[in-house]
Amino acid sequence: MVSDYPHLIDLNDHPVSWWNGLLDLGQEILQNPVLYANSCKGKIMGTLFYEPSTRTQMSFQTAMLRLGGTIIGFDNPQTSSVAKGENLKDTTKIVSGYSDVLVIRHPTVGAAKAAALTADCPVINAGDGGHLHPTQTLTDMLTLKCEKGRLSGLTIGLCGDLLNGRTVHSLCKAMSCYPDNRFVMISTRELAMPSYIKDIIRAHGCSFTEVTSLEEAMPELDMLYMTRIQRERFASEEDYLAQKDTYILTPQKMKLARPDMIVLHPLPRVDEITVSVDDDPRALYFKQARYGMYVRMALILTMLQSTKKTELLSGSVHPGVVCRNPKCITHAEPYLPKSFTGRGTTLTCEYCDERLLLEH
Ligand code: NCD
Repeated sequence: MVSDYPHLIDLNDHPVSWWNGLLDLGQEILQNPVLYANSCKGKIMGTLFYEPSTRTQMSFQTAMLRLGGTIIGFDNPQTSSVAKGENLKDTTKIVSGYSDVLVIRHPTVGAAKAAALTADCPVINAGDGGHLHPTQTLTDMLTLKCEKGRLSGLTIGLCGDLLNGRTVHSLCKAMSCYPDNRFVMISTRELAMPSYIKDIIRAHGCSFTEVTSLEEAMPELDMLYMTRIQRERFASEEDYLAQKDTYILTPQKMKLARPDMIVLHPLPRVDEITVSVDDDPRALYFKQARYGMYVRMALILTMLQSTKKTELLSGSVHPGVVCRNPKCITHAEPYLPKSFTGRGTTLTCEYCDERLLLEH
């Protein structure tokens, strides 16, 4: 199913050349923000934030305001008609009718794609459950481009909650499209990277290793991407507490790293990086958040100017097949077409990427 609008649900909706164009534009805006101060005059951005956010929401809002546009939306669904039981389809239909571009964050996997299916304007995924976060990845890529001068030939360490962290999923998918990148996945066995992401890395010909020791990985890294243990995605507090505090970056551990290694973190930080690391010149996470505003300016501008149509569903509808991922949007919004890619006995849900083995 091809939509009438350009959307950004997953970076892979667009070719690498499109990402590179966005990063170039982000860098240009950063160097000359005044030139873009009226680029979106008269345009309205709607923001539907069903989940807490500081950086993503405010950087989108400031991005639009700095482009001369205006904003509407909610950051607490309980103050909107969602509290009265309105479904995602109806809320999206209405707010997209008021807006020129819509930004959505939702706790359920696949919600942004589901919203794009009914929206009357371009939709940007600002995080769908533990699945994807493409605009954080654009932020990370602009940081790498400006601070390391390249997006290829990097040894990238990813540490923390690799299972539930949507930022690292999007980052691996994107960075495996550039040559000679290598991934070092540092996590406990319980919070290891999902196998579908590892398959994507392999399919692009990139290599990865999975380790449990941060100290051992440190010396070889060009970039260390720290993440928060995603408390809200755990089945119980007990499961969360068992994982909490496994990896804590300290000035002591920073001594093991190369002088030109950089530390990124999508933030918010809980306690996985001690505050004393902030003074290390290699700690770039606050600067990274600022790059996010410029790349989102580039993204909003591009979405508003583009006439490109995005393919949202490319597989086939299997009305009788139920996605077995309990966090998939198809359970909460039962009117959605049950669309899967693949054939035979192996199908992949087009909303959440869960693989199903059908029994005959
Ligand atoms: C991240 C997110 O929401 O996934 N934050 C962000 O957008 N900068 C990371 C997190 O919440 O841990």
